[in-house]
Amino acid sequence: MSFSFMLGAGLPALFLYYALWRGIYNFFFHPLRGVPGPVWGALSDFFKLWILHTKKAHLLGLKYHERYGPVVRAAPNLIAVNDPRLLPIIYHRHADKTDVYTPAVLGDVAPPFQTQGWAEHARKRKRVASSFALSNLVKLEGQVDERVIEWCTILGTRFADTGKRMDFAAWSQWFAYDTISQLSFGEPIGFVREGRDKGDLIKNFHDMAPFAAVVGALPWLCAPILQNPLTKWLFMPRPGDSSGTGKIMAFRDALLHDRLNDPQAHHKGDFLDNILAAKNEDGTLITVEEVKTECFVLMVAASDTTAAVFCGFVRYVLQSEGVYNNLISEIDGFERKGLLSSPIATFDEIKKLPYFSACYRETLRYQPSTPMIIPRYVGKDGLNLYGNYLPPGTEIGANPYVVHRNKEVFGEDADIFRPERWLEDPEKEKEMDKYILTWGYGTRICLGKNIALLETYKLLLQFFRLFRPSIDDNDRVWRQENLALLVHWDFWIHIARRSLAR
Ligand code: HEM
Repeated sequence: MSFSFMLGAGLPALFLYYALWRGIYNFFFHPLRGVPGPVWGALSDFFKLWILHTKKAHLLGLKYHERYGPVVRAAPNLIAVNDPRLLPIIYHRHADKTDVYTPAVLGDVAPPFQTQGWAEHARKRKRVASSFALSNLVKLEGQVDERVIEWCTILGTRFADTGKRMDFAAWSQWFAYDTISQLSFGEPIGFVREGRDKGDLIKNFHDMAPFAAVVGALPWLCAPILQNPLTKWLFMPRPGDSSGTGKIMAFRDALLHDRLNDPQAHHKGDFLDNILAAKNEDGTLITVEEVKTECFVLMVAASDTTAAVFCGFVRYVLQSEGVYNNLISEIDGFERKGLLSSPIATFDEIKKLPYFSACYRETLRYQPSTPMIIPRYVGKDGLNLYGNYLPPGTEIGANPYVVHRNKEVFGEDADIFRPERWLEDPEKEKEMDKYILTWGYGTRICLGKNIALLETYKLLLQFFRLFRPSIDDNDRVWRQENLALLVHWDFWIHIARRSLAR
């Protein structure tokens, strides 16, 4: 038998034999065999690939919980939960992240986001946490203002004054990517200024999603391949690639190189400054490789997540009856009383608008930016859930989109966008707030939450203060695709200028 025959026929046969054996074990002998769920999910991890491929994991999640109940076996070793009251149990202090977070497309070194063990994560998070603290926000607010003013000025001249329609989805992404670039590296990339996806950088980000999805869905298969020097060299993105994440890495490396080699450029007060100064417990600086990964994670974590909030907020405010009018009468009321600074309101001022905040919180509930199961391992004592015993090492998690539609916590009308639910009863508001999973949960909660609040509050308030938007996408299909981050496409609107209320 020739070697090429063995490779051509032998390997696939061996793989099929293994898959069959695995399927039989998973279905009949696995400790989770009694937990209800879709048959394909019980048989094989490849089911996760199919779910990801649909780009509708959140909708399928809802469907499966409706069919199988609050605890669903979504993959052979993965349990999905839709009971919000279990969040503190799943995401407890010592819960380790699963190997879904294997470092791959983001680089070799695991930043806090991809560090699995809770203790190591705590150490790494401490090194960079001060960059994201509220006290640092004050320094960043002026930089966010610059970006918001630029965005609104360009929208005014290009669309409000000409009557042309705009793709709000694209312009949201351009703002979000420019702003995180400004906050991280001291300057925007220039998407908004040029009104286009410069160098296809954003497209390259989105193009890496299928690769990241395969690695996340099948870490036991991909991790050994990615750790082998030869296959790593062949498949992993590298700075200098002509497409994919390698292109973004090259962009990051150029900015880092400039910063390290130009003493004038130091102390801009951006994230890069802070990360370059981050220290380990023994007082040594973190390595340049770690700095690179931290910067890269910021680009990934902060851009599409933020753009999704802009699109969701505008979309649902405009299409939910009465909401737009209530919002505008609140903004105009504050304007008349002189409670909003010009040319742009401060973050502190905006936080005082109750209906605006309610619309915001409802957007985070109704359309969380990462509508995927956020997985953790069950700890050494195992877990009993709804009559099912989950042994240590079981992967367990909840999808924010699914949890936020739980009627016991969010009300019988949890399926509809209704900001008023946040204003009706202070006790209920507190309870709902406790079970919001949009920012993650527990010790792994989003580090950039304050930054995200700052930029989204500012941009949204300014947008509704200056413009009257109306949806005009009847001839284009508005799409939301779940690429682990929710990405909007083709959200076409018209805008007209509003005069400030006197
Ligand atoms: C609306 C916008 C955002 C949303 C909805 C969001 C959501 C999340 C979620 C769900 C996690 C936890 C994921 C997990 O447990 O696996 C997370 C982590 C993280 N986010 Fe955000 N994020 C947003 C914006 C930002 C921004 C603007 C930044 C940076 C400036 C940022 C930086 C991070 C970092 C560094 C982590 C990892 C934290 C850790 O592991 O300790 N995020 N984010």
